[in-house]
Order: sequence, then structure tokens, then C-alpha cells
Amino acid sequence: MHPIGVIHSPFTEKDQTPIQTSRSQAIGLVELYPEFADGLDDIEGLSHIQLLYVFHQSSGYTLRVKPFLDDQEHGVFATRYPQRPNPIGISTVRLLFRQGNALTVEGVDVLDGTPLLDIKPYVPDFDVRTNGVRVGWYETRSKK
Ligand SMILES: C[S@@+](CC[C@H](N)C(=O)[O-])C[C@H]1O[C@@H](n2cnc3c(N)ncnc32)[C@H](O)[C@@H]1O
Repeated sequence: MHPIGVIHSPFTEKDQTPIQTSRSQAIGLVELYPEFADGLDDIEGLSHIQLLYVFHQSSGYTLRVKPFLDDQEHGVFATRYPQRPNPIGISTVRLLFRQGNALTVEGVDVLDGTPLLDIKPYVPDFDVRTNGVRVGWYETRSKK
């Protein structure tokens, strides 16, 4: 895999970056390298998109982590913790508009300069579950 672009955001410090898109109203610019611009055709019709990217400022990992929202340790794969064996992140953001090979989005939770791996449409029919949803430790977490 190799990056297809860069995510620009207002955030330069990890501890000042929102921990999830649902807690962010920050505006970001998703800049695709020009050779990938044709792949954005028809994206304007989408209100939300999913960004997949590399946590490029993360190094190393442990399999048990204390995530942002709890004082207890959990297995890394039961969390969204950025230090993971493959440091890949996913953020669903609102697409505001496209200008050529750049997308202006709302709700970024990544550092400025984050390498972009992929973009996918957010489609409620595919991505939203309503029946039998359980969120495990998130329900009893110590922090809101
Ligand atoms: C908990 S992660 C969640 C990101 C994404 N929504 C997910 O679920 O994969 C968000 C945190 O990762 C850290 N972070 C964001 N961008 C990063 C990057 N490029 N490299 C390393 N850490 C990053 C910041 O501390 C931010 O608050």
C-alpha cells in the first residue's frame, strides 16, 4: 500500500486532536495526489465519506492499551487506539465540497499531514447497524 494523498488539519499536537470525528467540528482538507483525481468523480453527491489513513506519528504498539476513554486496559483490537500493529485509522467525515483533487471536509480527528490510504462512501444501508448492537466496555467506561 502507498498513500494516495495527504489530510491537512488544524491539529499539530496529538493531545490537542479530537479523539473521534463525532467530537470534532474541525475543517480539514483532503488533498489527493493529481494522478488519483479522476477517482473522485461522483463524490460530490455524498454527504459523508470514510477516510482511511496511516497514524504516521505513532510508533510501536502493545496488545493491551489504556484507551482515551477508560482507566482500564483493553485489548488493542477492542479499541480505536492509534498505536496498533498496523497503524491504520478510519474517520467518517462530512464532505462539504470538492475542488479538483481536494475535498473540504468537516469533523477531522487527525494530525496535519496524515497520509491518506483510501476514501470510501459512507452509506447508511451498508454501515449502520441498529439491531442487537452492543458496545461492551464503552458502555461502562470511566470517561465521557
Ligand atoms: C483515538 S484515534 C481515532 C481515529 C479514528 N477516528 C479511528 O477510529 O481510527 C484519534 C487520536 O489519534 C491521534 N492521532 C491522530 N492522527 C494521528 C497521526 N497521524 N499519527 C499519530 N496519532 C494520531 C490523536 O491523539 C487523536 O486524538
